[in-house]
Order: sequence, then structure tokens, then C-alpha cells
Amino acid sequence: MLHPRRGLIRALDGRKVRMLVIRTQRLILRDFQYDDFQAYGKLRSTLHFQRFYPEEDASLEKVEQLLGMFITWANEQPRQRFQLAVTLPSDKIIGSCGVRVTSESEHQGSFGCELGQAYWGMGYAYEAGRAMIEYGFREMGLHRIYAETIAENEMARRLAQKLGMREEGILRENRWFKDRWWSTVVLSLLESEWMLMPSNNSLNPTPR
Ligand SMILES: CC(C)(COP(=O)(O)OP(=O)(O)OC[C@H]1O[C@@H](n2cnc3c(N)ncnc32)[C@H](O)[C@@H]1OP(=O)(O)O)[C@@H](O)C(=O)NCCC(=O)NCCS
Repeated sequence: MLHPRRGLIRALDGRKVRMLVIRTQRLILRDFQYDDFQAYGKLRSTLHFQRFYPEEDASLEKVEQLLGMFITWANEQPRQRFQLAVTLPSDKIIGSCGVRVTSESEHQGSFGCELGQAYWGMGYAYEAGRAMIEYGFREMGLHRIYAETIAENEMARRLAQKLGMREEGILRENRWFKDRWWSTVVLSLLESEWMLMPSNNSLNPTPR
């Protein structure tokens, strides 16, 4: 059972700030702060990380823009978009993960997850993803959560499948970057399918 909390977190400068905190077995998912700029930028800076992103996404301007967007989302009322920092218990940022409402009337949301390369292959994305998907169905009242990723991004596809998503189809050559066309794949999970997943009850986050 998920225990999302609005908790007080100490920022790097010693201030205490109020933010959403979701705790899983090994991770803490929390709202971003501007202080996270350097750590977040560093995570996105490796060539492997950038493989399936457009060239401009590698810039520091893009990192600043993303961080600003996540923090703006956190302050929207009512809040409908969540992209949380994925951190280790030491508060070291290892990535981000989120669910965003894309249609309020039809209870649709999109899912996205990214980790710094040093943290791949450890099950962290799966753990963070499960927590966010649980949040999307339980707290945000979503009916369907989908992910769209570059079709060649095998790790992202496998993550979505491990989270229980089923492939809906391929959008052929709908993205252009790095001097070539890329196809994307859409995968989704319905609330009714998620409810039936046995692993659903094994998440045991503890409140902070
Ligand atoms: C997509 C991305 C988040 C996937 O990360 P990941 O580390 O492969 O995903 P997971 O956390 O689920 O780890 C998977 C592997 O960890 C291993 N693992 C180790 N310990 C584990 C544990 N305790 N629990 C589960 N898996 C574990 C498993 O072998 C698993 O491999 P498998 O899928 O072959 O079974 C990562 O590749 C990434 O950040 N890429 C760059 C950004 C990006 O492209 N994001 C997608 C945009 S749409």
C-alpha cells in the first residue's frame, strides 16, 4: 500500500521545503527543487543516456527548462502532473519518474522514467515506476496509463512491459532528430489490469 506524504525536506541551503514524498523499499521519490540542477544535469549528460533523445535535449538549457517545468507542475492546483526526482535514501538523485494527466475527462495519463547510466540494470526504474503507476491509479484516479518511447529503446520497452504495459502499436517514423527518422511505440496499462496484478500488493513503502 502506497503512503504518499507531503513532507518537509531540508534543501541544500538548510531551508525546509514542503514536497510530495513517496517511499519505496530502496528509494525515495520526491518533488524537484532548483538546487537539483547540477545533479540532474549530470545524470542526463552521458552519451548512452542521450542515445534516444534529440541533440538539443543534451543541453544545460534543456535541463533548466525541464526542472522549471517539473517545479511548475508541482505548484499547479489542482495538481495533475508529477515528475519526481528518484533518489537514494541519502538524497542522491539517480533519475526522475512521473505520471502526467493528458486527458482529465477521460482519465488518461502518460508515464516516463529516466535514470543516470550508472544506475541502470539494478531494478531501480522498475521500483520507481511501480510506485508512480500505483500513485496514478490510486491517487490520481486514472483509467489508463501509457508510455511512448522510441521503438529502438529496448530498455525502455522492457521496463514498460515489466510494469505490466501491453504494446498498442508502432507510430511509424513520427520523430525526426539526429539526421534520421525514428518510430515510436505506445504501451499501456489499464486500471482493471493493474488491479489484477499479483505483484500489486508486494510494494511496501513506508511513510517518511
Ligand atoms: C529506460 C531506463 C529507465 C530503464 O532502466 P533499467 O535499469 O534497464 O530498468 P530496471 O530498473 O527495471 O532494471 C532492469 C534490470 O535490472 C536488473 N535487476 C537487478 N536488480 C534488480 C532488482 N532488485 N529488481 C528488478 N530488476 C533488477 C534486472 O536484470 C533487469 O533486467 P531485465 O529487464 O533484463 O530483467 C533506462 O534505460 C534509462 O534511463 N534510459 C535513458 C533514458 C530513457 O531512454 N528513458 C526512456 C524515455 S521514454
